Amino acid sequence: MRLSFGRVATLAGTYRPPSDKSLTHRALLLAAIADGPSRIRRPLLAEDTRATLRCLMAMGLSTEATEDGLRLTPAQEWSQPSEPLDCGNSGTTMRLLSGLIASRPVEATLVGDASLSRRPMRRIAEPLRLMGATVEGDAPPLLVRGADLKGIAYRTPVPSAQIKSCVLLAGLRASGTTSVAEETLSRDHTENMLAAMGVPVERVVEPNGTHTTVVRAARPVGFEFSVPADVSSGAFFLVAAALLPDSRLLCSEVGVNPTRTGILDVFAQCGIGADLENGHVQMGEPIADIRVTPCPTPRPFTVSGALVPRLIDEIPVLAVLATQCDGVSMVRDARELRVKESDRIDLVARNLRAMGATVETFDDGLAISGPTKLRGTVVETEGDHRIGMAFAVAGLIADGETVIEGAEAIATSFPTFAEDLWDLTYV
Ligand code: S3P
Repeated sequence: MRLSFGRVATLAGTYRPPSDKSLTHRALLLAAIADGPSRIRRPLLAEDTRATLRCLMAMGLSTEATEDGLRLTPAQEWSQPSEPLDCGNSGTTMRLLSGLIASRPVEATLVGDASLSRRPMRRIAEPLRLMGATVEGDAPPLLVRGADLKGIAYRTPVPSAQIKSCVLLAGLRASGTTSVAEETLSRDHTENMLAAMGVPVERVVEPNGTHTTVVRAARPVGFEFSVPADVSSGAFFLVAAALLPDSRLLCSEVGVNPTRTGILDVFAQCGIGADLENGHVQMGEPIADIRVTPCPTPRPFTVSGALVPRLIDEIPVLAVLATQCDGVSMVRDARELRVKESDRIDLVARNLRAMGATVETFDDGLAISGPTKLRGTVVETEGDHRIGMAFAVAGLIADGETVIEGAEAIATSFPTFAEDLWDLTYV
């Protein structure tokens, strides 16, 4: 599918982005291990989260639609899936689910689409093997055979919430303690939600990194959770509003967990105003409205070190922002971008260059010089939803027409993206 975008004058309105993908995945997975029913209001129903739901249903989770979401009833014991579990495009599904399967008396083969089949799974296979599970394959398809696990102290090779969550979820049924050390803190939704379900989770910050520990736990209690909006989906609108003169955008009910709001740090570096209003907390997760003020000539920004995991999914759209900044913006320490839904360093650079931008690539990042007048052209998503949406934003500020080839990928996380953008923009 192709979508085309042209220059617009401004973006205005109050907008609630779709519900958070990371939190929806976790709410579904945690409901499947709870002791009794849970209720999830406003879950994200996009391709990735539907994949998690389908896999869990194949192992016994019952679901019932309610007027505003889902009521989920876990099976007493998970059942053996009769077919391979299709995780679609979703790394979170494959990696977190593997941790739950590894600690239960079931065996499953997890498969994915072409993009997921290229992504590294050794990063979760290795700790699960150390805990005593059988995991065949270091890339999809993965065969995971559960066992009585033993707790481990594991240091992740890269800061990754998917590795951390996989190991901690397995640790809930392992003997002894299970701890994960990471050099810089990755998103901590799993920890917050488990703690809200009554599971003791300990975090210690030491000079060599953050250590998160769980012990074998009784089944956590069922919960009610209303999923806030996804800052990573909102990011496309926030950047568009920052770049389009006279924009007035209030993104409402957004999850603003500090492990996810690195984009606001970048805005501060650029001189783009972003104010948080109406803050509150639910299941340990902070939520607020974000009001953004446009900035005609943003300053260049630097992203490196501990900031990287706090905005890892926003880098494609921040690269578009960088083309409009007055100077050289840098992204470093972000080698992980090479193993996301696409090689995002390579693809962002190729697409930006095709639009006339000046981009240098490194093994672990990008340098982008601005400001550049972008020119519309045909760009590829290579099946990567965030590339599609980032270049739709580029299309709003470029001369001529920007055609997104492979735009069907956007439904992975944000099925209503194009309609919502068209509703808020004015030519
Ligand atoms: C996610 C963690 C991040 C992120 C992904 C979602 C999660 O991946 O890029 O989109 O929900 O835990 P890593 O943990 O591999 O960095």
